[in-house]
Amino acid sequence: MPSLKEIAASKGLLYGTALNSGHVVGTKSAQTAMAELVRRECACITAESDMKWTAIRPEAAKFDFTRGDKLAQFTSDNGILLRGHALVWHDLPAWVQNISAQDAETILVEYVKTTASRYEGKVGQWDVINEVASPSGLRDTIWLRHLGEKYIDLAFQLAKESCSATRFYNENRMEYDNWEMDNKRKSVLKLLERLVSSGVPIEGLGIQAHLFPELPFSESKYSAFLRDVGAMGLKILITECDVTDKELPADIAQRDQMVADTFKKFLNVALAEPAVTGVLTWGVSDAYTWINAVRPRPDGLPSRPLPFDDQFKPKPAYQAIYDAIANAPAR
Ligand code: XIL
Repeated sequence: MPSLKEIAASKGLLYGTALNSGHVVGTKSAQTAMAELVRRECACITAESDMKWTAIRPEAAKFDFTRGDKLAQFTSDNGILLRGHALVWHDLPAWVQNISAQDAETILVEYVKTTASRYEGKVGQWDVINEVASPSGLRDTIWLRHLGEKYIDLAFQLAKESCSATRFYNENRMEYDNWEMDNKRKSVLKLLERLVSSGVPIEGLGIQAHLFPELPFSESKYSAFLRDVGAMGLKILITECDVTDKELPADIAQRDQMVADTFKKFLNVALAEPAVTGVLTWGVSDAYTWINAVRPRPDGLPSRPLPFDDQFKPKPAYQAIYDAIANAPAR
């Protein structure tokens, strides 16, 4: 059976994962096993945290590219497309939270130029902005407060001037049929329409797709949203797919099947839209998932949100992702 990246390539799609260099670079047996798994299954890697402000600019006085460089070396050694993540986000080191309105633009410009040009030729796609919308419009961030909405336009312009990577807007919480996410999709479409019509150099929408089995999913509303984005000439990539299993039964066989069904139901709809260029999961193995930290199970059992278990063995979710890709129309 072909790997996920191979079946995806046969459809003109990408499969990949988020990763930190520490997961794969080193001589520990878990690092060797992860590196082997990632080489076999993944054509694309998003820098999970190695290229965030918290890693690169922890203090005002220094830029630190150590972790980002390690990840870039791993992807280049293995012929894997690297996605940088994220040039502009609200999750910032403490010193940035306290900058003045006068300094904000200089700091943003310096960071985006320095980081994007550092990884020219190494990062193939950048999440230029991450999580900027809200159900009522734009998310309240330090950038919005100090610079107004034009910080978004500025970020894309700067990225374009500084590197040749494909420029994405990455966003969360748009999948479900409820008040919050219906309005979130509206906010995102409104922003995209403005950016595209005013010539801001955005090229793609990254859809995080952290999935919840218990929330209502409307295939028709979701397909319409993807079609609307595609009609603006933008590429779409599913960038952070995983399934939060905290409401699911403890029984592993039952739980794994429900996680798999959740991936399948979502990906069947997402991959049917021709503008969607692939799917990345937010991790490959349950050994490394952010879900245990942010949305732990009330019974304390480890979460199982990803295609491989914590021993790097494929689970039903693997087969579900495989089947959804295999059933997708070729690009
Ligand atoms: C998360 C990482 O997975 C965690 O390890 C880290 O502690 C916090 O950030 N949306 C995003 C990602 O865009 O950057 C987040 O990554 C997960 C949610």
